[in-house]
Amino acid sequence: MNVLPEHTARFLRATAPDHTPVQAEMADLAEEWGFPIIGPESGAVLRLLARSTDAERVFEFGSGFGYSATWFLRGGAESVICTEFDEEEAEQGVAFAAEYGYDDAVTFEVGDAMETIERYDGPFDVVLIDHQKSRYADAFEAVRPKLRPGSVVVADNIASGPIDFDALVRHVADGDPLPSSDEDAQTHGIGSYVDHVTDAPTVETAILPVGSGIAVSTLRG
Ligand SMILES: C[S@@+](CC[C@H](N)C(=O)[O-])C[C@H]1O[C@@H](n2cnc3c(N)ncnc32)[C@H](O)[C@@H]1O
Repeated sequence: MNVLPEHTARFLRATAPDHTPVQAEMADLAEEWGFPIIGPESGAVLRLLARSTDAERVFEFGSGFGYSATWFLRGGAESVICTEFDEEEAEQGVAFAAEYGYDDAVTFEVGDAMETIERYDGPFDVVLIDHQKSRYADAFEAVRPKLRPGSVVVADNIASGPIDFDALVRHVADGDPLPSSDEDAQTHGIGSYVDHVTDAPTVETAILPVGSGIAVSTLRG
């Protein structure tokens, strides 16, 4: 879902890169399954970040069948660790990678991403957080020791998706409390993440209103 006025969204859609054949097939499958992929506007940012960090290693929290991973690969990333607790989605991701010949560049780990990250050493050049919204801040902290100076962490669904964006706006702009995690775990999770990455003195963050809204963060030295 897009967060911008329709004419601006049209402009961004029209200037976003075209899908490659595998991405087009994945987008069709996402449509068929009703599965939320990050989309080409945010995908272009992932590609750019992989290119500008000269990325060797990328880690994703929540990969589905690997659509977002293909944007990192388009940006020159050498390897992407994909995590997914839905076996069917991960198997589909492995099948896409084998069919289109990039299976040596992606690893699908089936299981809880928060456990998988503990089994990997850094450094990671780029990280995507796109799993359970209530666990975004925990994911950031789990991967933080595995970043290098200049690494970038991207979090999706900052401005739309399964969240109450109006409540989030009232929180950041007017200081209203967030809904409690019992009331609305997703909005609480995204709001807590935004607080976390915008308040910490050692983290620099920009929120970009592309796609579903992404937060792009890096650590100060
Ligand atoms: C929004 S989708 C990911 C889309 C993907 N990043 C893309 O753009 O192509 C979120 C995915 O995260 C998975 N997921 C949620 N929580 C997870 C967790 N703790 N560990 C692993 N996968 C998780 C869901 O099953 C779902 O497939």
